[in-house]
Amino acid sequence: MKIAVLPGDGIGPEIIVQAVKVLEALRSDGLKIELEYAHIGGAGCDAAGDPLPEATLKLAQASDAVLLGAVGGYQYDALPRPMRPEQGLLRIRKGLGLFANLRPALVYPELVNASSLKPELVSGLDIMILRELTGDIYFGQPRGIRTLENGERQGFDTMLYSESEIRRVAHVGFQIAMKRNKKVCSVDKANVLDTSMFWREIVTNVAKEYPAVELSHMYVDNAAMQLVRAPKQFDVILTGNIFGDILSDEAAMLTGSIGMLPSASLDANNKGLYEPCHGSAPDIAGKDIANPLATILSVAMMMRYTFAREDIAQRIEGAVRKVLQQGLRTGDIYEAGMQKIGTAAMGDAVVRSL
Ligand code: IPM
Ligand code: MG
Repeated sequence: MKIAVLPGDGIGPEIIVQAVKVLEALRSDGLKIELEYAHIGGAGCDAAGDPLPEATLKLAQASDAVLLGAVGGYQYDALPRPMRPEQGLLRIRKGLGLFANLRPALVYPELVNASSLKPELVSGLDIMILRELTGDIYFGQPRGIRTLENGERQGFDTMLYSESEIRRVAHVGFQIAMKRNKKVCSVDKANVLDTSMFWREIVTNVAKEYPAVELSHMYVDNAAMQLVRAPKQFDVILTGNIFGDILSDEAAMLTGSIGMLPSASLDANNKGLYEPCHGSAPDIAGKDIANPLATILSVAMMMRYTFAREDIAQRIEGAVRKVLQQGLRTGDIYEAGMQKIGTAAMGDAVVRSL
């Protein structure tokens, strides 16, 4: 298992250290794991003047999987857009062809009270958000800021999906649903956007190849509402890049903390980049208070999707569950009566229970 490790910025390095502890524990159990490190985001700018240095992309291309911390920091906010840390993330997704972004929103029984929603609404919740990750308004051309003939300035982006892009991510969605509760809800804005009308047409078409899966469609505004009204109605949510960006943050809060949410971004051959859904949280960086569980759970997803080791994935997830059962909590998921611990102690606890 050749894994590229990209700690990035902010809390990235400290949460990655915890995930690496887990990988090293697995290695001492006999798994052949090779780790190689590279810079991305602000760290890439500092080290090589580029949020995605060529060496980093090369290493990622030569690896089976990529483990990423987070990118971004106040000191980079004023940089011109091509130099912004987020560009490193967008370019590595595009550069590796990682079009299928899996963001599971799972409520652990131990954390039902950490959610801002009533326990009965979220207890037992298990949703998979599948976000298309390399198309849409994120990458559509033309885009920019221009001055019209009358002197008025204008900002513009292009929302755009080609048929093959919709088709391949839809297939992934139906295949995931086949292994779950066989329901796909495709989310769009087909009442307003032509791109969405087309999305709906293609998804409906692909659905014919999966007669066992029940397909429904929902407008994104309604989906945002349904997610906080009755989230358990969903199984797989299939959606485009921008809607998926927004809905996955919303879904994260159902689980109690975005610090619990892992993600997998896969190409057509299950090569993947694994990262927590949360950002670099520069305000708490270096304080040993960040929750490393999303990153550790991302390692579990890596074992499941890239290395087809469901057994190891479940072993890691089981270890996390046990730590929660022991009452150990980082600050973001803390509640009275529990034991508050820091980032490193949480990593150690997971390794112990592993
Ligand atoms: C995410 C993030 C990124 C995105 C940013 C940091 C570019 O919000 O992974 O959801 O918009 O995709
Ligand atoms: Mg986001």
